[in-house]
Amino acid sequence: MSGETILVTGGAGYIGSHAVLALKRAGYEVIVLDNLVYGHRDIVEQVLQVELIVGDINDRLLLDKLFSQRQIDAVMHFSAYAYVGESVTDPAKYYRNNVIGTVTLLEAMIAAKIKKFVFSSTCATYGVPHTVPIAEDHSQNPINPYGATKLMVERILQDFAPAYDLKSVSFRYFNAAGADPTGILGEDHNPETHLIPLVLMAALGKRDSVSIFGTDYPTDDGTCIRDYIHVTDLAEAHILGLEYLLKGGDSAIFNLGNGNGFSVKQVIDTARQVTGQDIKVNLSDRRPGDPPILVGSSDKARNILGWEPKYPAIKEILTHAWQWHQQRHH
Ligand SMILES: NC(=O)c1ccc[n+]([C@@H]2O[C@H](COP(=O)([O-])OP(=O)(O)OC[C@H]3O[C@@H](n4cnc5c(N)ncnc54)[C@H](O)[C@@H]3O)[C@@H](O)[C@H]2O)c1
Repeated sequence: MSGETILVTGGAGYIGSHAVLALKRAGYEVIVLDNLVYGHRDIVEQVLQVELIVGDINDRLLLDKLFSQRQIDAVMHFSAYAYVGESVTDPAKYYRNNVIGTVTLLEAMIAAKIKKFVFSSTCATYGVPHTVPIAEDHSQNPINPYGATKLMVERILQDFAPAYDLKSVSFRYFNAAGADPTGILGEDHNPETHLIPLVLMAALGKRDSVSIFGTDYPTDDGTCIRDYIHVTDLAEAHILGLEYLLKGGDSAIFNLGNGNGFSVKQVIDTARQVTGQDIKVNLSDRRPGDPPILVGSSDKARNILGWEPKYPAIKEILTHAWQWHQQRHH
């Protein structure tokens, strides 16, 4: 299916911009709504060449005007704040943007009779897992306000489905990583807190070293194991989730992960191979709240959506990210 118009909130950000590219490639019309607090205007206007509305999901008047002037078939909602540490020190900022902002967006959609919604949730809703790989029916006990805001939105969507006939797909991403294989898009957060871009910045000489938090975890090499999922595979899942909704699918929640975990040391060693640079590391203590192993099971997305990650190898994820980092930061 294609030709429908999709509003992408947060489409100037990392994952949203890759979803916009996938939507365009699949033949959808795309409008991006982003307040550019963290997003990049040049990516939307010059690279993706789609319409950008610079505005906020908390602005109900803007949303009402947009929805009355344009025929929008579905909304993909990426916009949120996503810094775990900041969510602990300033939770109000997170509840306001991630929860109240989402409710404002949903209310405007319901008033305009737009009934399909794709939502970026997170593995942070699980908290510390008691089994891995984590499946969707694992208990959800987030250990920080960021994870709590995403869990609240999942709950809101569950309540809105029968009340307003609003059908949604929520994707719980594990660690989004990598860059579009063509090299035109990639990860550019400021500030950056994610391991792979930090490692590559060190390889480029933009940082002195990379910190490893904890080397005494019960894993083979003592460092934490995480599930890195290529951002292009995430974007592809969004197309499948959207098509599932457009064909009349019921609300559903899916994990999106690689199924394979990689340790912090493995990521750094592979980055050394890919970049040919000696990346300096700084061994630090464990950070509170970091579980030793976070790996997701994505069997449900494979079985129901027919999703299959194309780039599960950490080397390929790093190669694509490196390609992007070299051209973005030189
Ligand atoms: N990056 C990851 O590994 C990861 C993992 C799990 C979940 N997520 C979720 O995926 C989504 C996208 O993450 P990302 O890494 O691309 O983040 P990002 O910061 O690159 O993108 C978010 C975008 O939303 C915009 N935005 C924020 N608040 C807004 C508002 N009120 N109105 C309009 N625009 C607003 C920002 O300017 C930015 O462009 C987020 O919801 C995040 O919580 C990300």
